[in-house]
Amino acid sequence: MAKTIDLNEGWEFTARPESDFYQGGSQETVLVRLPHTGTELPWNYTDENAYQYISAYRRSLVLPPLSGGKRVFLRFDGVAHKARLFVNGKLLRTHRCGYTAFTVELTEHVRAGENLLALEVDSRETLDQPPFGNVIDYLTYQGIYRGCSLFVTEAAWTADVYVRTRGSQVLAELVVDGPGAALAELSVTGPDGREAVRKTVKLSDARAGSLPLPAGLPARREAMHSYELQLDCREVRRWSPEYPELYRLDVSLYRESGELLDQRRVRFGFREAEFRKDGFYLNGEKRLLRGLNRHQSFPFVGYAMPDSVQRRDAEILRYELGLDVVRTSHYPQSQAFLDRCDEIGLLVFTEIPGWQHIGGDAWKKQVLRNVDDMVSQSRNHPSVVLWGVRINESMDDDELYRRTNALSREMDPDRQTGGVRYLRKSSLLEDVYTYNDFSHTGKNPGLVSRELSAPDPECPYLVTEYNGHMFPTKSFDDESHRLEHALRHARVLDAMYGAQDISGCIGWCAFDYNTHREFGSGDRICYHGVMDMYRNPKLAAAVYASQRDGEPVLEISSSMDRGEYPGGTVDTVWAFTNADFVRLYRNGKPVRDFYPDFRAFPNMPHPPVRIDDFIGDVLVEQEGLSPRTAEKLKALWAGEGGASLKSLSLLLDGIDAQRAARLEAKYRSGWGDGSDSWRFEALRKGEAVAVRTLEPVTRTCLELEPERLTLNEQGMWDAVLVRIRVCDQNGNRLWYAGDPLLMEVEGPLRCIGPRAISLRGGAAGVWLRTTGEEGRAVLTVAWRGKQEELDFTIQKRMETL
Ligand code: GAL
Repeated sequence: MAKTIDLNEGWEFTARPESDFYQGGSQETVLVRLPHTGTELPWNYTDENAYQYISAYRRSLVLPPLSGGKRVFLRFDGVAHKARLFVNGKLLRTHRCGYTAFTVELTEHVRAGENLLALEVDSRETLDQPPFGNVIDYLTYQGIYRGCSLFVTEAAWTADVYVRTRGSQVLAELVVDGPGAALAELSVTGPDGREAVRKTVKLSDARAGSLPLPAGLPARREAMHSYELQLDCREVRRWSPEYPELYRLDVSLYRESGELLDQRRVRFGFREAEFRKDGFYLNGEKRLLRGLNRHQSFPFVGYAMPDSVQRRDAEILRYELGLDVVRTSHYPQSQAFLDRCDEIGLLVFTEIPGWQHIGGDAWKKQVLRNVDDMVSQSRNHPSVVLWGVRINESMDDDELYRRTNALSREMDPDRQTGGVRYLRKSSLLEDVYTYNDFSHTGKNPGLVSRELSAPDPECPYLVTEYNGHMFPTKSFDDESHRLEHALRHARVLDAMYGAQDISGCIGWCAFDYNTHREFGSGDRICYHGVMDMYRNPKLAAAVYASQRDGEPVLEISSSMDRGEYPGGTVDTVWAFTNADFVRLYRNGKPVRDFYPDFRAFPNMPHPPVRIDDFIGDVLVEQEGLSPRTAEKLKALWAGEGGASLKSLSLLLDGIDAQRAARLEAKYRSGWGDGSDSWRFEALRKGEAVAVRTLEPVTRTCLELEPERLTLNEQGMWDAVLVRIRVCDQNGNRLWYAGDPLLMEVEGPLRCIGPRAISLRGGAAGVWLRTTGEEGRAVLTVAWRGKQEELDFTIQKRMETL
């Protein structure tokens, strides 16, 4: 029976391997745990040369005698970027992609007792493989940055299972590697834990598989057989974002004698996904996809974060931003991330590694290998609905892309292909025209029409990027800038909702990211996220979050501090909410109700609410002006009346210029009078469901938001994100707080990155990582003499070898 063991502990690492390192030569090393990076970077002003070198890892592997034809395999889930595996000094495999997994059979190269596994890791960006060869707008990092596992099988095992569904039928393509398997038993279990069907087949009677074997299968291909097996389930529940119903297929292989050889479990879902000329259909229902792009990078450690952190990102995208879809720009991301997308109903567009550049023959050969690996490693995920088989934003190359498309369709006949481009009318060899539409400049429509960009007006169409570099926005930019960032996202979304025939829009991007010197704001950060690198929301995050019904959202674009604006005047404020309307109170008195601005945003489910009257009826009620005069005065202040109004009408109404000026100072500009208290209530069905109170800051507080308080080492180290914010007495973020935070940890947790960091835009964060020890740990964060603490429990469940 096969057994899998996580092999994430006990690796020796060196950034300067000597030539006999792989043969066990003695050399100074550090002991590391996977995922690992050899180079931690600063927050910004990073140096992309710092992580580019040849490094090496090794560990010993003690094995019992392999009796009865047992076999051993080693799997690496992600190594940046070229990996050469040596076993007992002998080079067994070179893998040339930093974003796909590779598995190597060790059986004939290991012995009972001690063995040496060693991996040379080349992370130089001069490598002749994707995505390298030209500039790239993201850092590519270093290390064995995902997990590693070992598995021991009998002589025959299930090397691959590809599950396809047709209605309530399951079509399973099994690849059996090795001799001796006579029977396969398959059973499908539903989300309720009940068996939906079970079937035993003689492999000699089974139909031969029709699909090509994945290139990445580890063993001798001549010993492999593939079989096509069909199962009819009674009744199945469809997988959808709202009801992500997951099934599992258990495959057991038996010898003729009935002895169990191998068991393999695969998770899948019943769903039909199709991009059609008029939009995207899931299970026959049309739905518009609202999404963002995600890079898999994190501050300081780059890619090297454990599965739990990958999973958490999926939750942030789905639950906090309310997205339907994510694009894994610009490479396949971890299985942990995709697993979580399956579980929570976040659709995925995943693509091969690359950025604008296409290399020579060897490079292109690797592109095909990457298509094969991407598709075969992720095709059982119901969340994945589209394969990206072009190098992101590359020029047309029909010869290459004919082959990538053909290969993808061969490996997975059920999913459509896309290929991301910024070229209008470029050669369409894919099923879906996936187009980066950076046309919105703030003043024009949010999107160009499909007729303008696609070569065929009838083709399925998906916008795969917008905004991004068109309007970089830092959390500490001024209010007007942060607001325009949010409004640009809203305008594009509104254009998407207005277009009847597109499948959706995936904006650039979810999180800020570190980048190369050719990009970003000069400090090696692209501030393109709707969240910062710690996943703290900017205002634009609320545009996405507020498009969903359900939990009330209310964000106000201003702190209502007049001094932030030219001339000391807050003219217009926007509320981002999914409530019916917003009621504004000034100093406890209602000013007016404001409704979603369907004029500016006619198509969105929940348009932003424009708030542009902060005076209401007070001129009438408190100053005794006639309603007509009050309205004239307000129009004058809003700049609509002009001089004639001022000189004629107001004077006629008996308001002289001095009184008008006094009233203006009191009710409108109020320069020097910062004592107003503003209350914004979001109402649904007449009831206030969310409230924001904005008034001068009289008290500040430090808030820690841990994602959870229990950490668990299950096969690899764990990490938890604690988001940190400073707020006023009403819980409003202090956007311009930028001073230091000091962090202390007692117990078995460590801060990732430095313990002293600065707030940026009133927020920061820290990932705390486990150390291999169990127990309790306390995080203390200090800011301006205030201190907050969190108490964590660390558990451990890890198999070792
Ligand atoms: C696109 C590119 C992305 C990112 C974005 C910034 O052209 O595909 O990787 O650089 O621009 O807006």
